[in-house]
Amino acid sequence: MLVCIQFISALNLPNIICNYALHDRQSANCKQDVIINKVAYAVLRKSIKKIIDELEEKSRKERTKRYDVKPEDRMLAITYETGQFIHSLIVGIRAKSALELGTSTGYSTLWITDAILTHYKTPRITTIERNPKKIERAIRNFKRAGVSRFIRIRRNEIGNVLKGLPRNAKFDFVLIDADKENVIEYARLIIPHLKDGGVMVTDNMLYPKKYRKMMHQYSTYLASRQNLQTCTLAIGNGQEITVKKG
Ligand SMILES: C[S@@+](CC[C@H](N)C(=O)[O-])C[C@H]1O[C@@H](n2cnc3c(N)ncnc32)[C@H](O)[C@@H]1O
Repeated sequence: MLVCIQFISALNLPNIICNYALHDRQSANCKQDVIINKVAYAVLRKSIKKIIDELEEKSRKERTKRYDVKPEDRMLAITYETGQFIHSLIVGIRAKSALELGTSTGYSTLWITDAILTHYKTPRITTIERNPKKIERAIRNFKRAGVSRFIRIRRNEIGNVLKGLPRNAKFDFVLIDADKENVIEYARLIIPHLKDGGVMVTDNMLYPKKYRKMMHQYSTYLASRQNLQTCTLAIGNGQEITVKKG
């Protein structure tokens, strides 16, 4: 099995293999297909990890400020440990669907996708971004990771997308990582779409410091809602973890 995975990885053909394994339902009970399916997903997850590592390296360089990246080109990605944290949460709640505010180049989206793939073969992820250049970079990264079919990018202002969500749109997991000024309004609009037992994570609760007062107000707002349980954790730039009670 391991030799087989290594061989297919070397061919670098995750999309082709996955499409075959996913769509050939006629012979789904065939043992050979089951093996191909397992191999295909192992290859897919390996290719996601490769892009995560590549983007992490870029993000790390960006953070050192020794490299001259134009403000509009900055990834402003979650930290690696934040990625690990949301990954564990998503696996723990066995999330199938996710909503993300602030795609940037797709780094956090890839963490979310990989985590959902732990239990489910067809993640459903909606991610919102308004910057066309970043959207192009995210599309490229999703293609290279072989996960484009799981991710819907909404190219719009977050407020517009949230206000237009159908009443029955429900998510197991939400990541908020966009403009801070509107964060309370975003949460207000999202909560009806968070499933009971669903988890919402908000980045930048503690850093940069300039947002701290605003994010404290946000945390206080969440704590005042009867149907939520919330706390702030010092992971990465500070994470608010909010659970919707049933
Ligand atoms: C901090 S970055 C997201 C980083 C990403 N979550 C990651 O970890 O890779 C925030 C992104 O949100 C986008 N954004 C901010 N405010 C927005 C808004 N009101 N509507 C749509 N996109 C927005 C920005 O263009 C930026 O790319």
